[in-house]
Amino acid sequence: MKSNIILTGFMASGKSAVGKELAKRLRMDFVDTDKLIEEKEGIKISQIFREKGEPYFRDVEAEVIKEVAEYENSAIATGGGVVLKEENMQALRKNGRIICLSTDAATILKRTSQNRLRPLLEGERGSRENKIKDLLTFRAPYYQKADFIVDTTDLMVKETVEKIIKYLNEKNGNC
Ligand code: S3P
Repeated sequence: MKSNIILTGFMASGKSAVGKELAKRLRMDFVDTDKLIEEKEGIKISQIFREKGEPYFRDVEAEVIKEVAEYENSAIATGGGVVLKEENMQALRKNGRIICLSTDAATILKRTSQNRLRPLLEGERGSRENKIKDLLTFRAPYYQKADFIVDTTDLMVKETVEKIIKYLNEKNGNC
């Protein structure tokens, strides 16, 4: 049986909050790949983007994904762009079920307007809204490759977790 739960989804879709709660409920370890990247590089994600550029960030991200794909019994929250590299998804799939959290553009805009932690969404409110819409459209087919998709737009963290646990119980009962 696959022992990891991989949370994918757009920025601010709730991967870390849901992953932490899921880990607590299922007695798993919680891992956040963005945090591991920051630890590895010794600087914040925004600084990596600014000083070294996105391609460098994606390479480090792919290295971290290879490492966490070997973990056992872990709920793994990934960065929103992890889905873009097929090698990342193949590695994660080997020992994990891929759960995508989806959220609409308006909710993402609302949730990300309070902070400047997301280098891909820098800019004025109007342009940020367009960036979110463009990225969502471009990435939709990548996110759709998940084993299970939960729309978290109107859900509390605990409700999302319940849906995921129900899905996992059904899946594990069937294999
Ligand atoms: C990114 C999402 C971020 C972080 C980086 C790039 C993306 O993670 O990895 O800023 O490409 O969508 P979150 O999804 O946790 O915000």
